[in-house]
Amino acid sequence: MPTFLPLRTFGKTRLRVTPLCIGCAPLGNMPEAFSYEVAEDQALATLRACFQAPINFLDTAASYGNGESERRIGLVLGELGGVPHGYFIASKADRDFKTGDFSGDQIKRSVERSLMLLGVEKIPIMHLHDPEHAPFEKIMAKGGAVDVLTQFKDQGVIGHIGLAGGPTELMMRYLDEGMFEAVITHNRYTLINRAAEPLLDKATKIGIAILNAAPYGSGILAKGPDAYPRYAYQEADALTLDRVRKMDDICKKHKVPLAAAALQFSMRDPRITSTIIGLSKAERLQQTIELAHTPIPNAVWPLLDAVGFSTEDPEANRWK
Ligand SMILES: NC(=O)c1ccc[n+]([C@@H]2O[C@H](COP(=O)([O-])OP(=O)(O)OC[C@H]3O[C@@H](n4cnc5c(N)ncnc54)[C@H](OP(=O)(O)O)[C@@H]3O)[C@@H](O)[C@H]2O)c1
Repeated sequence: MPTFLPLRTFGKTRLRVTPLCIGCAPLGNMPEAFSYEVAEDQALATLRACFQAPINFLDTAASYGNGESERRIGLVLGELGGVPHGYFIASKADRDFKTGDFSGDQIKRSVERSLMLLGVEKIPIMHLHDPEHAPFEKIMAKGGAVDVLTQFKDQGVIGHIGLAGGPTELMMRYLDEGMFEAVITHNRYTLINRAAEPLLDKATKIGIAILNAAPYGSGILAKGPDAYPRYAYQEADALTLDRVRKMDDICKKHKVPLAAAALQFSMRDPRITSTIIGLSKAERLQQTIELAHTPIPNAVWPLLDAVGFSTEDPEANRWK
């Protein structure tokens, strides 16, 4: 077992996780989200490297590649004889992408398929995934999605129930229900979008684990605005591209990779338990550790803030 990065308590639970978490969405081969393919061999090599890295936490979802991310993780767990000691895998229960079904029955099927693909009998963390795709009242109804997750928890199949999704206001409404032990926000707390500020404050007040996903805005802040002109799984608008270019220039002047600033923007925030980064190549693990430890002069942060950032929902038009 590698020596992990310093561990943090996962909200009010007894789990201890690293400040970095490997996001396994790209490993599920999702060209519609990332605009490139990830072959199985490459994904398996990356996953083998994950279990050698000082990061003890992996994040996936039933919907990533419609089970392909979980299936690939399951293959590597099979090689390793199960989840290695000290590691945690979190997944997410999903709607049926063909029919939009977000019923309790669908969530039951989703959880059961996740366990089967991962090759595990129980899972420490299962999030309710993207509840913005169904009415709040339906998700919270007796026999609905959250009720089914709670039943799995009562049976010991799920350790802790988390909430993972987009629109900040809606996420806060769910947190008011009091049963979520973790929250994932994504693409909404980065150098160029800070829509999740109130959610971070609220979740901190409640004391649950806070996971900040997609600190690179799905890639642009790691690969740069020319190599990857997309933000939050869509073409980036002109203002976003302009801001990223300006931030890149500031970073270059201070000899800091833009990716280091993007990653550490999240990691240095005391409210955030762990930052979830997506990757699909084995060499990314070492690069990520280096980016997390790159010295960044204090003077850089106010300069980056001064470029400006959005507080609008970055996916407001994505599903229309
Ligand atoms: N609703 C939700 O709960 C939700 C939503 C979004 C994301 N998430 C989770 O959070 C994770 C992170 O989000 P994300 O993957 O969408 O976006 P992200 O972490 O902002 O960016 C991922 C992209 O960054 C690239 N990258 C990573 N490290 C790099 C490096 N050192 N140099 C150059 N490029 C680098 C990856 O490229 P390569 O593929 O080339 O390595 C990938 O294209 C997801 O994988 C998922 O697990 C959850």
